[in-house]
Amino acid sequence: MPDTIELAPGLSPAHLDVIPVIDVGPLLAGDMTPAASIGEACREIGFFYIKNHGISQTLIDRVYAEAKRFFDLPLAEKEKSAIEQSACHRGWFRIGGENLDPAKQTQTGDLKEGFKIGRDLPLDHERVKAKLPLHGPNMWPDLPGWRDVMQDYYDRMVALGKLLLSAFAVSLGLKKNYFEPWLGIPMTTLGPLHYPPQSGRITEAQLGAGAHTDYGCLTLLHQDSSGGLQVKGLDQRWIDAPPIPGTFVVNIGDMMERWTNGVFRSTPHRVINVSGHERYSLPFFFDPDFYAPVECLPTCLKPGETPKYPPTTAGQHLLDMINAAFKYHQDKT
Ligand code: OGA
Ligand code: NI
Repeated sequence: MPDTIELAPGLSPAHLDVIPVIDVGPLLAGDMTPAASIGEACREIGFFYIKNHGISQTLIDRVYAEAKRFFDLPLAEKEKSAIEQSACHRGWFRIGGENLDPAKQTQTGDLKEGFKIGRDLPLDHERVKAKLPLHGPNMWPDLPGWRDVMQDYYDRMVALGKLLLSAFAVSLGLKKNYFEPWLGIPMTTLGPLHYPPQSGRITEAQLGAGAHTDYGCLTLLHQDSSGGLQVKGLDQRWIDAPPIPGTFVVNIGDMMERWTNGVFRSTPHRVINVSGHERYSLPFFFDPDFYAPVECLPTCLKPGETPKYPPTTAGQHLLDMINAAFKYHQDKT
């Protein structure tokens, strides 16, 4: 008998179909036409699905298989790649290691474990030698073939992320390559996640992923068929963002909201795994170069308006957010 599941009031999503599915096939061929609908989604719900994105399902399936292979390892084996041992926020974090909603989840973190794979920089790289935070080598687990599959996917997702950023630029009335100078060594992170099933009475005191906004520019998420992702709609009601085969879910993060002075919306979302089985997802976070200035873009300020946020840098912003969500990181600093 499966455990019964009871959702506390407010945790059931309304079923409204407002997250658009956008065909980005033309973008891959250099045609910027989809930029208009992408821009519209970023200004409104802050979430959209993309289809015809050019990443093969075979590769995506392999990434899931490799992620599962890691998460299935005995704890002692996973400890060998623990994030606490990394100087640059890479490797495995255990269940509860990340808390995306510390205000509500006061006793425990998210009911998920994950693995952070970033840009794999060697120890003799100048930024690593200079001890620049968040820069350095990955914590590759000792699983034959694992690294190759993850790196292949990572590289393709970097390219897809850059393409979406060029569409963002066009939709903001900027040159298509506007963001390129700020993508020297972009801080891009692939972070496979594993959510155990939740049962019993579920409250905001522990969700799979507590309600949060993402930190960076944009997130490209692949989710398995379990469902459970919810997005805060324009009317503040939570809506389902169900898995749609052949698509990624894309959303705006805080850095992009800040960059656009609030023109693009960084939308709260959360995960509740009520599928009764394990859930896996593959978020890919696209953040610019550490030194990228994040301040109001020239086209995002109407006459008489003032910037809503003080200028910052991509690196500082990311460090602040990681520090707020990861206890091990707070303990370190
Ligand atoms: C995240 C996130 C959603 C998911 O990691 O920021 O929102 O489906 N993940 O795992
Ligand atoms: Ni998120």
